[in-house]
Amino acid sequence: MESTKKLLFCIFIPVVAVLIIISIILMILFVPVKGKPNDSEYWSEYDKFDINNYDSIEVEGDNFKILQLTDLHYHLPHMTKDTDNVVKTLVKENNPDMIVITGDSVNGPTNLIYSQHVAELMDSFDIPWAIVYGNHDDEGKADKFWMGEKYEDAKNCLYHNGPYNIGGTGNYVVNLTKDGKPFYSLIMMDSNRVTYYKGIEEFGSFTPSQVSWYEWIVKGLEASGYDKSMMFFHVPFPEYSDAYNEWENSGFDNNMGAGSKNEDVCSSTYNPGMFNKILEMKNTTHTFVGHDHVNDYSIKYKDVILTYGLKSSRQFYYQEDMIGGTLITIKSDSNVSIENKFVEL
Ligand SMILES: [Fe+2]
Repeated sequence: MESTKKLLFCIFIPVVAVLIIISIILMILFVPVKGKPNDSEYWSEYDKFDINNYDSIEVEGDNFKILQLTDLHYHLPHMTKDTDNVVKTLVKENNPDMIVITGDSVNGPTNLIYSQHVAELMDSFDIPWAIVYGNHDDEGKADKFWMGEKYEDAKNCLYHNGPYNIGGTGNYVVNLTKDGKPFYSLIMMDSNRVTYYKGIEEFGSFTPSQVSWYEWIVKGLEASGYDKSMMFFHVPFPEYSDAYNEWENSGFDNNMGAGSKNEDVCSSTYNPGMFNKILEMKNTTHTFVGHDHVNDYSIKYKDVILTYGLKSSRQFYYQEDMIGGTLITIKSDSNVSIENKFVEL
């Protein structure tokens, strides 16, 4: 009897202890953490547009420099320092006025930890920064609203969770003023994680409601004196592929584009018509995306310049000579230059 008790003590208790520890680890890693949508942010096309509802930055000097970072993919502890160094080097060497991150900043179960790391790192540069979501950001423990609350709380971050009823999280606008007058608008959008089209799961795309929201936003911006905008989102729309085909057919005309395509354009075959809406509205001059890590081309297609940002880390798949950021300079005459800034560490 005594030996049975001893056996129980020696086997049962350690087994239970191990099971409890495993359960706690699984809970920490996988039980979802959810933020809350703001109930007041229900959007309707009949809403009155008020320019004062959007953040603005006054441009100092002649040029406004935006550093686009994309696909940082923070998720592995041993790679964190390397990615931090790429970002720090880019900021130090280019001295941007603002940073915009176009999605896939984090991925995997540790997104809760790394989204806070991204916020702390970006805040450390003491310049405004904005962020949109990619298709991988919310595949871990934290959902977009939860991460969004952390970004909203960050000192220098202009992210806004935005209306929750149009598709995506983090559709918002940042305006640039010069001498106190409207200069340029930066439209940030969530291109969504996946799209279900004809019963098949595909890469993310905008929803029809997001296209309507974009139209409403642009009409409001124009009525407020902003006649130029650029858009930042993650998954390219299918016209990124059409643009490349047209550039290829031109014999890679230098006046039309630059950069390279080393993988397919991974967009959804479902097309809600965002690019056509951009053409119709004649306000957005440029779009900037990430997603396809080894494409970095920038092509003028039907009066809009479609650009892939340079991948900004060695996490997930990448090409060693294609790591860095994209420097977007808006000059005082509203002309825009786009340069790839490579980082070799
Ligand atoms: Fe990515």
